[in-house]
Amino acid sequence: MGYVADCLSATAEAIEKAGVALREGRLVAFPTETVYGLGADATNDRAVARIFEAKGRPRFNPLIVHLTGIAEAEKHCIFNVEAELLARAFWPGGLTLVLPRRAGSPLSLLVSAGLDTVALRVPAHEVAQALLKAAGRPIAAPSANPSGKVSPTSAAHVMEGLGAAPELAFVIDGGPCPLGLESTVIGFPDGVPTLFRPGAVAREEIEKVLGRKLADADAGSGEEGRASPGQLESHYAPGSPLRLDATTVGDDEALLAFGPNAPRGAISMNLSPSGDLTEAAAHLFAMLRALDKQASGRTIAVSPIPMTGLGEAINDRLKRAAAPRG
Ligand code: TXA
Ligand code: MG
Repeated sequence: MGYVADCLSATAEAIEKAGVALREGRLVAFPTETVYGLGADATNDRAVARIFEAKGRPRFNPLIVHLTGIAEAEKHCIFNVEAELLARAFWPGGLTLVLPRRAGSPLSLLVSAGLDTVALRVPAHEVAQALLKAAGRPIAAPSANPSGKVSPTSAAHVMEGLGAAPELAFVIDGGPCPLGLESTVIGFPDGVPTLFRPGAVAREEIEKVLGRKLADADAGSGEEGRASPGQLESHYAPGSPLRLDATTVGDDEALLAFGPNAPRGAISMNLSPSGDLTEAAAHLFAMLRALDKQASGRTIAVSPIPMTGLGEAINDRLKRAAAPRG
C-alpha cells in the first residue's frame, strides 16, 4: 500500500514542521506515554472533522484535548475540587478528566460530540509536550488507529493503520510508548467521581488521592446514552478470535500468556514472564498485533490476568477485543 504520510524521527526540526502542519489544519500522529495520538488543532472545526474522517470514527464519540498544563486547562473547563486534586496528583500523565466546558472556550464543539463537557489531558511524553509548544494551541487526539482497531504503541503501528490516510501529514516517531495503555478517563456526573474508562493510572491510585471510591460508569443501553460514548462493546478488535481466562491451550490455538506458570503453546508470547502488570500493559497491544499476524485466523488463548492495579484496564481491553464484532 502506498503511504501518504511522512514518518519522521522526533527531532526538533520535525516537531517544528509538525507544529506548522497542525496550525494549517492538517493532522499529525505523535507519541504520548500511553499510546500514539492522531492530533489536530482543537480550535479548528475543519481540522477536528478530519480526525473523524481519517479514523472512520462515529461522530457521537468525543475526543480528548491535550494541553500544556492546569493553567491552560482552566481556560477551557470548570474544575471542581476533586478534579483539581487529581490534576495536581497525576498531570502530566495518563489521566483524562471530563469537565464542563467553560463559556467562551475556543475549543471546537466537535471535540465534545454534542456533550456539554470536554475531556482534557496533559501528556507527560516530552515529544507530545514539545509538539504542543510548537503548535501553540491545544491538540485534539484520539488513539491513532482506524476506529475499532487495536491502539498503536509504535510509529510503525500508526503507519500500518493510517499511513495511507490522505488527511495525515506526518507521523512523528518517538519510539515505543512506555505505558502502552490509553489514559484512565474520569468524569463527574452529578458531582460524583466516576470511572469512565480504566487505563494507565490504576483505580486504586486515584481512590487513594480522593480518599473515596470511584463510582462505575453505567454502560447504558444505547451507544449514545453512555456516560463515555467511546466504550463500545467490540473494540481493539484483532482479526483472530480471542478465548479469555485460558488455563490450557488447544493444539490449534496460539497463546498470549502471562506469568511464570503459563501453559506453553506452539505460537506464544508472554506479556510478562515475571507476572508484572506494568510490563504486561506496555506489551499488550504490540503482542496482540504480532500474535494476530502469526496466528493467521487461529484462536488466541489468553491466560488469566489479575484484576488488581493495571490488570483492570488490561482485562477491559481484552474483553473488548474478544467481544462479538458489531
Ligand atoms: O491515552 C489516551 O487517552 C490516548 C492518547 C492519544 O491521549 N487517547 C485516546 O483517545 O485513547 P480515544 O479517542 O481513543 O479515547 C477517548 C475516550 C473515549 O472513550 C471517549 O468516548 C472518551 O474518552 N471521551 C472523550 N470526551 C468525552 C466526554 N466529553 N465525555 C465522556 N467521555 C469522553
Ligand atoms: Mg481509541
